[in-house]
Amino acid sequence: MSYADVYQAWKSDPNGFWMEQAEAIDWIEKPSKALFDENTPLYEWFVDGQVNTCWNAVDRHVENGRGSQIAIIHDSPITGTIHKITFADLRNRVARLAGALRAQGIEKGDRVIIYMPMVPEALEAMLACARLGAIHSVVFGGFAAHELAVRIDDCTPKAIIAASCGLEPGRVVQYKPLLDGAIEQSTHKPDFCVIFQREQEVAKLIEGRDHDWHGFQYGVEPADCVPVAGDHPAYILYTSGTTGQPKGVIRPTGGHLVALNWSMKNIYDVGPGDVFWAASDVGWVVGHSYICYGPLINGNTTIVFEGKPVGTPDAGTFWRVISEHKVKSFFTAPTAFRAVKRVDPKGDFVRKYDLSALKTIYLAGERADPDTINWAQEMFGKPIIDHWWQTETGWSIAANPVGIELLPIKVGSPSVAMPGYDVQILDEAGHPMKPGELGAIAVKLPLPPGTLPSLWNAEDRFRKSYLNTFPGYYETGDAGMIDADGYLYIMARTDDVINVAGHRLSTGAMEEVLANHPDVAETAVIGVSDPLKGQTPVGFLCLTNGVNRPHDEIVKEVVAMVRDQIGPVAAFKSAVVVDRLPKTRSGKILRATMVKIADSEAFKMPATIDDPEILDEIRVALQSIGLAKETA
Ligand code: COA
Ligand code: AMP
Repeated sequence: MSYADVYQAWKSDPNGFWMEQAEAIDWIEKPSKALFDENTPLYEWFVDGQVNTCWNAVDRHVENGRGSQIAIIHDSPITGTIHKITFADLRNRVARLAGALRAQGIEKGDRVIIYMPMVPEALEAMLACARLGAIHSVVFGGFAAHELAVRIDDCTPKAIIAASCGLEPGRVVQYKPLLDGAIEQSTHKPDFCVIFQREQEVAKLIEGRDHDWHGFQYGVEPADCVPVAGDHPAYILYTSGTTGQPKGVIRPTGGHLVALNWSMKNIYDVGPGDVFWAASDVGWVVGHSYICYGPLINGNTTIVFEGKPVGTPDAGTFWRVISEHKVKSFFTAPTAFRAVKRVDPKGDFVRKYDLSALKTIYLAGERADPDTINWAQEMFGKPIIDHWWQTETGWSIAANPVGIELLPIKVGSPSVAMPGYDVQILDEAGHPMKPGELGAIAVKLPLPPGTLPSLWNAEDRFRKSYLNTFPGYYETGDAGMIDADGYLYIMARTDDVINVAGHRLSTGAMEEVLANHPDVAETAVIGVSDPLKGQTPVGFLCLTNGVNRPHDEIVKEVVAMVRDQIGPVAAFKSAVVVDRLPKTRSGKILRATMVKIADSEAFKMPATIDDPEILDEIRVALQSIGLAKETA
């Protein structure tokens, strides 16, 4: 079948299409139908089925004779170790951990926060929750205590599972003080914590609250898989929105299983036994879908990599991993390739390794710039597949479905809509636009299985953020166009979300932090172009009347505040002091114009600008930090 046939098969019978894909999943009770649309514009999938995620990701492979196959390879160039875990081992480890969690009172529906670095125990913790029907929420290790506290208060976990530390090149990140600080700051308190002690930093446990990972599993009865309904939340994953309050994306169990399983074969072109590697972090959606669940559900070997594309120890580390573990499909972010290209533009490291097992390379998380794609194409001589998706969807909206057929690659486009997604470009009034015209990218409802049914405890916000602007559609927050061949082009965000090194961050959240500085009266944060990270944040500070302290002191303080409250991952390193911010006559800050000035791009003077002269002040301020080089 061609891609066109598959897409048409879905379009002409969506229910039949997804019921057929659901056959690949082990159900305890099969669902009677795929789509449940009784409550439009809210939709659910496979609601009346009974199923367990952990069974499908782990146990069934053992039952089907794959027990001795490696499920997880932990490759840590930072510690210089490689560990392999078979599916049989994984089942035993997860069943024991789940048994220990149950012995402490964790049951179906309880929330558990997981705050761990790239160690296999992070996946085991996720799977142990799934085994019990508990709802996990993984928090990325690069977030600070405050961000963790916000998530604790939002999802009110009964337990938190954390590691004693994470390892960044040249620095041990102590997680325990961050965890303790977060619990101190939060209103909700977990009943207990479980700490996985790493030898690089053994944390002091708080008696009566903290359990040692190994000790608390001693002598417990392993837990069996608990059946849950198809719409039971598998997990909550927080992502950036326009404000400092992150959005708790809910992932529904049944659709998640069906969609990820479909994507492994049809997009990533891997079958059971193949080695699949997504070089991301369990704290992001890529880590959930394609380090943990997707490959395991599909019976692949997955790689948990603790390192960076460069410097651990060199720019050949990715190619060493691919060659040593015979990776067939490799997934990373364009920023990682840019980091490698910078150090090894001619590919000297690439040529050192036998990459014959590698068939396809996938890029996502941010716009894949043509320079990077062309470089990778030249270096590897393998298809470089850009694909586009979001935390909200959990799997590709647009991709090149290599497992069905490799469609012609158009550099700069993540190719075509996947089955389940009717992608359209809309104008401001919500009318479909013509091929080649730029507009808001929207997806006609319903979204396919696996995508978010709502936000955790925030249905109103879900409707406002995604459904209300274009009735009948899901608003992606991205702008772009579709060409005459149906290829999508993702050009920009329509909101204030920025993308720094493939990490989605909220400028609004940073502005909230800056506004808390006692000397700052007004502030704006924008994302400016960065040759390595795609974008980096820059802050503008208008000081309170009468403040005459040195500006660089204030800048240093706000930089420290963002690091302390959001975390190092925000990569907030520069800010400038200005007298005023450019605004429209109705008082809206003209961030998009400021971005154009910073990036030395031409722009049209906004018709509604209050005082055009402010733009010159902005340009001069930006020039003082090496931006806005040419006069636009
Ligand atoms: N725990 C604690 N701190 C973390 C962290 C974690 N899990 N991940 C990153 N950080 C810290 C870094 O140490 C760095 O701190 P610093 O300011 O003290 O240097 C800061 O957060 C910024 O990190 P990062 O954005 O990773 O920048 P970098 O300069 O360390 O590395 C790249 C640059 C391009 C090599 C790196 O960003 C990278 O590998 N990107 C790939 C991104 C990716 O896979 N994204 C997933 C989406 S698919
Ligand atoms: P996240 O939810 O962190 O995965 O971020 C999703 C956002 O990242 C999308 O809405 C896009 O803005 C951007 N993004 C992800 N993949 C791509 C891609 N292939 N091309 C362009 N932008 C992308």
